Amino acid sequence: MNQHIPLSNRLKKVADYLPQGADFADIGSDHAYLPAYVCLRDKTARAVAGEVNQGPLDSAKKTIQFHQLEERIDARLGNGLAVLKEGEAKQIVIAGMGGSLITSILENGTAIAKSAGRIIAQPNVDARAVRQWFDQNGFILIAEEIVDEQGHIYEILVADRNTAAPSPYNDNQQIKEKQFLLGPYLLYEKNPAFVKKWTYEEANLERIISQMKQAKQINHEKISDFQTELRWIKEELYHEGTNT
Ligand SMILES: C[S@@+](CC[C@H](N)C(=O)[O-])C[C@H]1O[C@@H](n2cnc3c(N)ncnc32)[C@H](O)[C@@H]1O
Repeated sequence: MNQHIPLSNRLKKVADYLPQGADFADIGSDHAYLPAYVCLRDKTARAVAGEVNQGPLDSAKKTIQFHQLEERIDARLGNGLAVLKEGEAKQIVIAGMGGSLITSILENGTAIAKSAGRIIAQPNVDARAVRQWFDQNGFILIAEEIVDEQGHIYEILVADRNTAAPSPYNDNQQIKEKQFLLGPYLLYEKNPAFVKKWTYEEANLERIISQMKQAKQINHEKISDFQTELRWIKEELYHEGTNT
């Protein structure tokens, strides 16, 4: 029956980080494809599909009804984690949004976020903000993926609370900042999607820095930050064996 759910590879990878018998919330669920896919393949799974907008909520309800999953997927209208009670979701998924929006959703519902054992975030941009939020809020980043889907590059971050897993970050703050930007696991693996993303970002940063240098009021601090990021990117793209 899963073939009826048009789930992207990106969200299939997210689904793979949910345990058997998942009891999760999908925040910003849109069509509720992810919860439907998970609940169809695992009869013991349950989910809340959270949506802030009525249109996507209606789409979610249609998917749930079509697959007769009303008993196990609850579609709720509300902003971010406000659709949940503390401790209700054992896992929380927030996918397909920018890292700063994901971070603000987590920040606005910190107690609820912290009551989950696992958060799976899939930021479209600015994964760094999400890694930093996890690190500052007692979540250990346990896995990361970077995938190239139809020309778009997506990152998937999986973080657990109450885990014995060691932190993937270096004690040195400079190296840690670099790991926040590039991903502590991703920069180790350096798969083709990673190389593609950061080759693009390298050119982008070079262009931005050169434009900033020509501005009437030069922001030296910002230029210096960008130059540091550019150095980190070049280290990982071109220096054999850096693997911070
Ligand atoms: C681009 S879609 C992503 C849908 C799906 N999660 C995915 O990854 O394909 C983003 C969805 O998040 C919803 N959304 C945005 N901000 C939200 C918030 N603060 N709380 C709940 N849903 C939100 C939007 O209405 C939209 O349906």
